[in-house]
Amino acid sequence: MLELHDVRVRHGPTLAVDGVSLDLHAGEVLALVGPNGAGKSSLARAIAGTHRPIQGVIRLAGEDLSRLGPAEIAARGLTHLPEGRPLALTLSVRDNLLSGGHVLGALFRAQERLVRILPSFPQLAAKLEQPAADLSGGERQWLVVARALMAQPKVLVIDEPTLGLGPRAAGQTLETIAGLRKDGAAILLIEQNAAMALAIADRAAVMVRGRIVAAGSAEALRNDPALARGYLGAGSER
Ligand SMILES: Nc1ncnc2c1ncn2[C@@H]1O[C@H](COP(=O)(O)OP(=O)(O)OP(=O)(O)O)[C@@H](O)[C@H]1O
Ligand SMILES: [Mg+2]
Repeated sequence: MLELHDVRVRHGPTLAVDGVSLDLHAGEVLALVGPNGAGKSSLARAIAGTHRPIQGVIRLAGEDLSRLGPAEIAARGLTHLPEGRPLALTLSVRDNLLSGGHVLGALFRAQERLVRILPSFPQLAAKLEQPAADLSGGERQWLVVARALMAQPKVLVIDEPTLGLGPRAAGQTLETIAGLRKDGAAILLIEQNAAMALAIADRAAVMVRGRIVAAGSAEALRNDPALARGYLGAGSER
């Protein structure tokens, strides 16, 4: 569904992404983990088209994205949730969700989609008419994920969805993301919390200083003692 080949991203003198190749398939969660500054968010922005790579090829469902802007990439079914993505706090939960469905074109289609996805988010269903400002941190994060789903994405790139959440809300957020697989979406999950991400992912890749240093099934990486010591501990390296 999403293919990356030898992607390089530069920020001035910094080569933030240094030759990354990855494949992401429909119906799977691929966890991308690694220390602060590894280049994970830079890679996500390259995929979404908000920061152009200096080299490499990115394909979505076979189509080369290099000549497309962020809006065109989104219209082809790729949704990117950047770190700390804001909600419209004064709008109701319902209107935040409907705003995520605008790419579907017609309001009735967004409303149909809302009815489809709400059962996965019971806490939001109970608060549809309340302003997003009334939600807890965890509920806001679920709303961000639910709003992204409204667009019925083929590929969802989610950057640090558990940032700032306690362990319980973080776990629920990741469980919710894992549940999105059954919709057929391909999910690239970027997480600081490697242990939690590997617990729900199908496959994983470890990124350090712009490069993928390990990749494989999530289970294999979970059980790799060298990784557990070297890269997977929170903030183990900068
Ligand atoms: N807009 C920018 N301008 C200049 N340098 C940047 C910019 N964004 C990122 N960088 C640099 O690129 C490198 C990779 O940063 P990036 O944000 O992609 O890492 P990350 O893996 O997402 O880290 P974190 O886990 O802290 O979010 C770092 O050295 C960072 O300082
Ligand atoms: Mg980041």
